[in-house]
Amino acid sequence: MIPLTMAEVAEATGGRLHNADGSETVTGSVEFDSRRVTPGGLFIAMPGEKVDGHDFAAQAVAQGAVGVLAAREVDAPSVIVPPVTEAHRRSVALTGDRDGSGAAVLAGLARLARHVVDRLDRLTVVGVTGSSGKTSTKDLISQVLTPLGPTVAPPGSFNNELGHPWTALRATADTRFLVLELSARGPGHIAALCDVAPPRIGVVLNVGSAHVGEFGSREGIAQTKGELVEKLPEDGVAVLNADDPLVAAMASRTRARVVLVGEAMNAHIRAVDIRLDEQARASFTMVTPNGSADVALGLHGAHHVGNALSAAAVALEAGATPEQAARALSDARRVSARRMEVITRPDGVTVVNDSYNANPESVRAALKTLAAMARTGNRRRSWAVLGVMAELGAESVAAHDEIGRLAVRLDINRLVVVGEQAAPMHRGASLEGSWGEESVLVPDVDAAVALLRAELAPGDVVLVKASKSAALWRVADALLESPQGETR
Ligand SMILES: Nc1ncnc2c1ncn2[C@@H]1O[C@H](COP(=O)(O)OP(=O)(O)OP(=O)(O)O)[C@@H](O)[C@H]1O
Ligand SMILES: [Mg+2]
Repeated sequence: MIPLTMAEVAEATGGRLHNADGSETVTGSVEFDSRRVTPGGLFIAMPGEKVDGHDFAAQAVAQGAVGVLAAREVDAPSVIVPPVTEAHRRSVALTGDRDGSGAAVLAGLARLARHVVDRLDRLTVVGVTGSSGKTSTKDLISQVLTPLGPTVAPPGSFNNELGHPWTALRATADTRFLVLELSARGPGHIAALCDVAPPRIGVVLNVGSAHVGEFGSREGIAQTKGELVEKLPEDGVAVLNADDPLVAAMASRTRARVVLVGEAMNAHIRAVDIRLDEQARASFTMVTPNGSADVALGLHGAHHVGNALSAAAVALEAGATPEQAARALSDARRVSARRMEVITRPDGVTVVNDSYNANPESVRAALKTLAAMARTGNRRRSWAVLGVMAELGAESVAAHDEIGRLAVRLDINRLVVVGEQAAPMHRGASLEGSWGEESVLVPDVDAAVALLRAELAPGDVVLVKASKSAALWRVADALLESPQGETR
């Protein structure tokens, strides 16, 4: 973070000093976890489900924190933030935040982040939203921008009211680009994140059915995702997916210049001649208004073509040539774990670990990738180990059924459906015609692992994917640990 006195922190957050005279200067980063505090840092005291950060204020100071941002008085130099309204507490809906003190601290943190971002006049903020691919694309954007200037991007999927300001506060006077992932659990959330660090470039990837249970409809999701482009300034740029009608339609909701990306003829930045190699990595020619360049992605799955075009659009806006953007995209590697992580064991079994999370669109993308990997080269036996896709509300049974049927249509050889909640996938697959023994329903992760250990053969390709709650990463981890030996 840029150096700030505690008096400035108090002013920026609207809080008051406690046990501090205001001259103490924060020079390090902000942290929620007292164990992560480094000398000069600012500790953010958040109440959690099990422990309350306020009880760790003294420990944070002992670790070197200059001060604490808190909702109530603690035995440490601190800034006490003002309370928030009950309506605000409910809209933030933090688990474990019974009295609203967590929402109050986060509101203070958001104001602090905005204060810092406003002072960094060399900074370009890039925001990414969409139903699927935010983290993957954020990682691509950060890799294409890094050659152009110092870039700050969050690790993993820091995309909510905690991770977003935490990341913004990592920007310093040297930072040229701040890349942020924006997610929403309800209307107004994306707009609120935009107020914390106002993006000049906004990327909307797609509108799927993730969280449709909470939003009511895909149009409801589009309404919320589009808050990003509504917030862009007149001299900003909205990067929109030309291949997704609900995203392309957002062009009418922004004052910013619109750059369309995709395979559609009307896209300003297009991918043509897309090919997949035996590991389902895409190569294509990127056609831009300033010339064409060839891209060979290191990421697995055709769905990354659209993500890559979005990242290219950002790079071109930031001053890269098409050749530079294409080279950076071709050099880019997967950064965040358990997203299309492809590992081949010494015995020749390939595990596609996509167990981080799942929704219908990302499962479709992953199944198509699996089918492509099995199809190319020597025909390999394909396995899809799938668990529940959560938070789909009334669409849940139909969505699971549809995935089961898709697995059959894509000629996946074996489908292992894990857990009763995902059972409609198994039923859909079984009803889709010729399938008899090819689909099985197993009760849990242990049963899935036992089945796979008994039946996997050299050369097989196994996709593992489900929503976080199903914890299918345990299947992937079990497949990748010994007795096959050292694999990572
Ligand atoms: N454009 C895309 N279309 C469909 N699926 C995609 C796309 N990009 C990535 N995915 C897949 O979606 C899953 C989640 O990817 P990623 O973590 O990048 O998305 P996210 O939007 O950040 O997710 P979350 O909302 O959980 O943070 C992965 O399985 C990934 O392979
Ligand atoms: Mg994410």
